[in-house]
Amino acid sequence: MNKQISYRLDELFVEDVSVSEIADSLRTPFYVYSRSTIKNNFVRFKKSMEGLDGIICYSVKANSNLSVLETIAQLGGGADVVSLGEYQRALRAGIDQKKIVFSGVGKQDFEIAETLKSSLLQYNVESVSELESINKIAVSLNRQAPIALRVNPDIDAGTHENISTGKADNKFGIPITTAKDIYQYASKLEKIKIVGVDVHIGSQISDLNAFRQTFENLAKLINELKNTSIHIENIDIGGGLGIKYADNDAEPDLQKYCTLVRQILGNLNCSIIFEPGRYIVGNSGILVTKVLYKKKSQNKNFLITDAGMNDFSRAALYGATHRLIPISKKNSGETEVYDVVGPVCETTDTFLKNHIIERPEEGDFLAFLDVGAYGAVLSSEYNTRPLVPEIMVFNKRYEMVRSRPSYEEIFDKEFIPDWK
Ligand code: LLP
Repeated sequence: MNKQISYRLDELFVEDVSVSEIADSLRTPFYVYSRSTIKNNFVRFKKSMEGLDGIICYSVKANSNLSVLETIAQLGGGADVVSLGEYQRALRAGIDQKKIVFSGVGKQDFEIAETLKSSLLQYNVESVSELESINKIAVSLNRQAPIALRVNPDIDAGTHENISTGKADNKFGIPITTAKDIYQYASKLEKIKIVGVDVHIGSQISDLNAFRQTFENLAKLINELKNTSIHIENIDIGGGLGIKYADNDAEPDLQKYCTLVRQILGNLNCSIIFEPGRYIVGNSGILVTKVLYKKKSQNKNFLITDAGMNDFSRAALYGATHRLIPISKKNSGETEVYDVVGPVCETTDTFLKNHIIERPEEGDFLAFLDVGAYGAVLSSEYNTRPLVPEIMVFNKRYEMVRSRPSYEEIFDKEFIPDWK
């Protein structure tokens, strides 16, 4: 367990704040993030890159709360964004526009036009049509567009199929086999400036071999491009390094990952762009929830929590398992087995099956661990359940960083037309 989120005696603390103290003043469910954890993860990543000319462009989609982005900005980090909304968040949080890469398979004209007005680091281009669109808009604005081609190396990252992106059948990138021709084509477009090459093969990857093969393919491509006088300045290797969710999960090794980068890509005279998301924020967050009811059915015991799949959807979407622990231990020595489910009217609103937990009572508070990445960002108001609040802790202080909207605020965004 992350030592910034751990028990002191029998009480769960996030840094120096007891989770019970927050739960006493704010209705559950809510997320709590440890700012120090994010800082430590970032600094550890940065240290592991030593000897490389590299930059961390934190993948904003993992957790885009402004307070998280501000933490990254303070540490000198850049951003990997996939929409104008994420781009504007990054700027608002103080991230330097020159450290922003714009990724994503479906960039829209207005997003390209707006971002072209500033000088971002590069567009990671995913198709020939997108390349042509960027050029056209750049010509009309008389701006140069720095681009990298996102290549698809057709490599199996060995991760959940819903988060694999580097296989030929995935929608992402340009087949690496055709990349050279497209670089040639791009070099002839008036306002396109080729600056890099980009790849991202998936998320929650623990098999370093998949990265090794990918980097080798990139190195080969870059050398071939050199012979055709296309010079690559930036190698964007995407994100994807996994974290340990369960005690028996393999721990992907950051040092070994960076050693691979150094060995295979370190001598090409290029700057390396890293886009980690989960690795920076995954273990920084918990989701605090209350036990609403205990319910016995014929074959099962259900524990019904006030958090649902609309607040946290990784279990429903990817069959993910997150540890669930009490925020106050009772040390009763009695355990029980439950299927832990939310209140949403969907059978997939199931967090854990056959979960062994110290005998809980209705009204007890529990915490799901390691929900800092792809937690709140994936929340919705399904079942008209207001978006879940987010709290950030830093040392002894805690602050609300996203509030729960009132029902009025939710309804104010909708209109009943006057049909008469
Ligand atoms: N770069 C690109 C182009 C990406 O598409 C992603 C994630 C990242 C970087 C960051 O990857 P990370 O370091 O966080 O693995 N919602 C899913 C994960 C989706 C990942 C999407 N792309 C989940 O909860 O597991």
